[in-house]
Parts: sequence; structure tokens; C-alpha cells
Amino acid sequence: MTYDVERLRARIPALSDGTAYFDGPGGTQTPDVVAEAVADAMTAGLSNRGRTTAAERRADDITVEARLAGADLVNADPSGIVFGRSMTELTFQAARTLAQSWGPGDEIVVSRLDHDGNVRPWVTYAERAGATVRWAEFDRQTGAMGPDDVARLLTDSTRLVAVTGASNLLGTRPDLVAIGAAVAETDALFYVDGVHLTAHAPIDMQAFQADFYVCSPYKFLGPHLGMLAASPALLETLHPDKLRPSTEQVPERFELGTLPYELLAGVTAAIDVLADLVPTDPSALSRRERLVRSMTALEEYEDGLRDVLRSGLDSISGVRCFGHAPVRTPTELFAVDGVPSADVYRGLAERGVNAPAGSFYAIEPSEWIGLGAGGAVRAGLAPYTNADDVARLLEGVAAIAGQ
Ligand SMILES: Cc1ncc(COP(=O)(O)O)c(C=O)c1O
Repeated sequence: MTYDVERLRARIPALSDGTAYFDGPGGTQTPDVVAEAVADAMTAGLSNRGRTTAAERRADDITVEARLAGADLVNADPSGIVFGRSMTELTFQAARTLAQSWGPGDEIVVSRLDHDGNVRPWVTYAERAGATVRWAEFDRQTGAMGPDDVARLLTDSTRLVAVTGASNLLGTRPDLVAIGAAVAETDALFYVDGVHLTAHAPIDMQAFQADFYVCSPYKFLGPHLGMLAASPALLETLHPDKLRPSTEQVPERFELGTLPYELLAGVTAAIDVLADLVPTDPSALSRRERLVRSMTALEEYEDGLRDVLRSGLDSISGVRCFGHAPVRTPTELFAVDGVPSADVYRGLAERGVNAPAGSFYAIEPSEWIGLGAGGAVRAGLAPYTNADDVARLLEGVAAIAGQ
């Protein structure tokens, strides 16, 4: 299975501006078919969901299709796919809802590796409930977090474990299968932040034994919104705040207000693009099978390109890379000795290379490794990154480092 990056690039209008986009971890560029799906939804008759008028049926079909696509992406039940404004909003809502049953003596596990979207909601509501927060730590030198770093915190009182699938700062991919197996031996729920991971690998939330898996389509070629996957049976047991007339049905119970139907149409289109990264006859394989095939090929391609990027960065004297975990997404955090990261960012931008500096809301890991809120420069590969982009980034960094 070979991955044809140029085939995808041809479908992304933004790339024709000549910029090398390494800011995919903050949000990817959009294929034409995704934008067209959004526009098509908005230009055809569209009403609230229903089955009476054609416009109602369109809204309903779009919603049902987006749940099917989301379920295929992460190996979930479509009836447990919840859409919301963002991962952050969905996680605050999940924390508020789950914390209704927490109290003193209960324990919540969060990690120093996580984006604050999978930390602060849990810490905030644990504190309000009088529950104890326990912190899983990672190795400051390597950036690795082993299953035992989480498992040793688990007790009979653990109610929830919140861990990232991949760090958006360092790329570290904790072993979710091992962590999930440890959590499954307790009564705790396992909440996985898949926002950074989902763009880079095939996802099977069942293999992780995750009770919840959250991601954000705008990180994988889709529009700006968030998605939460859980089993419908688990969702049935939870009661979020809701309006009196809004339905008690699952998953709608968790979706506040009217859904952004046009964006949901874009989500389905984006997931179809991912499924088609390695083209196959759609009648021969299910979309789930095509997603696994395509994302496996993408992961292999991105790993190879990351090795080129990393060895290039390592060969520039004065450049320090911070992520050394054995399993990582293609995301490099680096600094240039003697040059503030904000200046590296600006210098690269002047060369048409977008690789921002910061801590990217991953405030805990950035402080943990001693970079503070300022962080460093992040170059993240995306499904459309090619070898020429990487060469331009490396040339830019070398010039900025004075070589
Ligand atoms: C790992 C990770 N988790 C959570 C988030 C927050 O996602 P959202 O913007 O959908 O709230 C981000 C966004 O950068 C992220 O990278």
C-alpha cells in the first residue's frame, strides 16, 4: 500500500498559495470536497431535523450520516456519537455531568502530558465535588509516559482516568491498550483525548477499552467542531443539564441546541477523504476497512517523513529537539540556541513556512519539561505534507541558526 501525497495535495486549494503548512496540529487545511459538502448543505433547502419536508429530511440524513462516519473512524457505535462545538466544550460538559456523582474520597487521574482540554475540566469539577486529583507524570528527558505511570495511581476510589492518545506538544503516544487494560481492572471510566492522534493513525477505541474517545474534525481535514464517542448504554446512565423540551434520547441528550448540519456534512466528507487516502473500490471494502487501510499507510508515510525531518533538525548545530518517546506522532518540538522561538517562527513565516511557537494549550507538559508557557517551535506533519515542505523547513531553520 503506497501513500500518494500528491493525490491529496491536488484536492486542497489552500496549498496553491505555496505555503508549507506545519501547523496541522493546530488545524489542518481543507480538501475541496469538504468545503463543497458544507456549501451544498447550506445552499440546498435545510431545516431542523424531521421527516416531513425534504429540507427536514436533509438535516436528518446529514446528522445520521455524520454519526455513521464518526463511528467508522474510531470504531464506535453510531448511536453513541455526540457532536459539539469543540473537544474542550464536550469535555467540560462531560466533566460537569460525571461529577454529579463524585464526592470526597473519590479520585480522578489526569496527566502532565495532556493538553489542558483534558485536564482543566476534570480538575475544575473534581475540586468542586471535593474529589482528589492525582497526576500521572512522564519522563522529562525523553517525553515518554509508560503505562505504569498511570497504573500505579489507580485505586478502588478512582472514578475517572483522563489520558491523551498523543501529546500535541511532544508527539508522545502513550500505550493506550496497556493503560486501558489497567483501567478496565478498576471501576474507573477511561476518557481518551484523541484530538492529536486521530489525524495520524488508525483508531480503535474498543482496543483501548476507552469509555469515551474525543476528537476534533478540524484536526483531520474537516470543519471546526468536536466529536465524542461512547457506548450508548453508558450515555443512557448519564444526565447532562438540558432544556425541558429537548429530547431525552441518546445521543441527542448531549447535544445542546441545534446542530451545525452544514459542518456535519463536512465531517462526513472529511472522513470519506481519509478513507480514500489509499484508493480502493468502495464496494469491495467497508468504510471502516478502508479507513484502517488508509490510515495505516498514512502512519507509515508520516513516520518516514518525520525521520527525515528529525534527522535534518538533529544535524543543524544549535537545534534542540524535545520529543524522544519511542512511539510518537510526526510532531517535532524544537528550539534554536540563542534565538527566541518567536523569532524562529517569524523567520520561517517570512520564508513561507508556517511552524508556530508556543505551548499550544499543552501548558502542563510545557512547564513540566521546563519550557514554561512560552514553549518552543512546533513542526507538525499533516496528511498533505511532502518532502519538499520538509526540505524548505530545514533550509529555513538552518539559515535562522546561522548555517
Ligand atoms: C491534544 C489536544 N487536545 C485537545 C485540544 C482541544 O481541541 P478543541 O479545539 O476541539 O477544543 C487540542 C487542540 O489543539 C489538542 O491538540
